[in-house]
This record gives sequence, structure tokens and C-alpha cells, in this order.
Amino acid sequence: MKLFLDSANLQDIDYGLARGFIAGVTTNPSLLSKEPKAGFYAHVAKIVDRLTRQGAPLSLSVEVFATRPDEMIAQALEIRHRIPYENLAIKVPIGWDELRVISELARRDIDVNCTCIFTEEQAVLAANAGARYVSIFMCRLKDIGGDAAKVIANTRQILDKAAHAAEIIVGSIRSPADILEAHLAGGHIVTASYKILESMAAHPQTAKSVQGFLKDFEAWLT
Ligand code: E4P
Repeated sequence: MKLFLDSANLQDIDYGLARGFIAGVTTNPSLLSKEPKAGFYAHVAKIVDRLTRQGAPLSLSVEVFATRPDEMIAQALEIRHRIPYENLAIKVPIGWDELRVISELARRDIDVNCTCIFTEEQAVLAANAGARYVSIFMCRLKDIGGDAAKVIANTRQILDKAAHAAEIIVGSIRSPADILEAHLAGGHIVTASYKILESMAAHPQTAKSVQGFLKDFEAWLT
């Protein structure tokens, strides 16, 4: 039932970490592109600084942006070298050639978050190649009529039957209901934006109940 924050925004990360429930942060090139052009490594270093200050093993996923496997491996090794954060996971998209990248990084004891997964088959390949995380894109799969809950549940069942250590991260989340569905389907981790995580905490009856308690208590005090 772990929750990761899906953001590269430093304020999102500060505000999210302050609430103590975030177990990790996932980024991707699109999320990073929304941030000020401070330079890739400079910005990631600021994220790492925030995570390190928590004094807890908070995962951070950073995606390679090379397209050819050899370049991906080289880029992953450079990221690992320049971002010496113990809980760093390198995001590598699933693909036939990308499996070589996943395998090579796993061989070097570099955690891999295999991303852009839409089928059980892709997840099985990634996990067998050595991925620490397999990231299933829930709403993007639903966008094309896919049964995301079934893919998550089947993947979890396959991993559990094999007692495989890989964890399912469910991404591409658009509402608190998606988070619930992803966890109930068997996602070990759900990664969602700050705004979606924030909205998880709200309910009209909660606000109404708290206001009523305070009103009654204030009346009693006076
Ligand atoms: C996970 O880290 C994915 O990169 C992310 O959740 C994708 O979400 P999107 O479909 O909103 O881009």
C-alpha cells in the first residue's frame, strides 16, 4: 500500500515529505521538463538533498532519456555516478532491446524501475531481466480500453507465485479512486501527483464533522 510522489517539483516534494507518508519519488522526462531549466543533474541533486534530509530509505526514480541501448547504459552509469544516492532507481522503458539495459544494470547492482508497462508479459520480461520495480501505466492503459486492474492483479499473482522480489509500481494515476483500485488490484506501490495525493485526505463530511466538534466545544468553553 506504499505511496510514492510522482513529481520533480521541489515544492511538491517538500510539502509531500513533510506529511510523512511518502515512501518514494518518481520522476520522468516530462515531469522534469515542467521545472525551471536548472540543468538535469543540478535539479536531481536538489531532490536527492530533500530525500536525504528525511533520514529514511526513500526511493527516487530517474529515467534515462537516451534512446539507444548502449547510450542508455552509458547514461544510467553516468547518472549513478553523478547522483550517488543509495536509493536511486534508474527508469528504463520496457522493450526488447531495453531488456539488455535492464539486465546489464541489474548485473551491476543498479536498481531498475522498468517503466511504460501495459501488459503482464512486459512485466514478466522486465522482472526476469532483473528490474527492481515494474511500472504499470494504469490510466494510459484504460485510455485504450485496457483492463488495468486485471493486468495489475495478474502481474501480482505471477510475481507472488514465483516469490519474485520485484514490486509493482502503478503510475498514470488521475484520481484517488485510481489509487484505491490500484492497491486493491495488487499494486505494491502507487505513484501519484501532489494534487491527487492531497485530495485523498479531503472529504466534505470530515470538514463538517471537525467544524461541528469545534463549534460544540467552543460553546462549552464559553
Ligand atoms: C510513473 O512514474 C509514470 O511516469 C507516470 O505516472 C505517468 O503518468 P502520466 O500517464 O500522467 O504521464
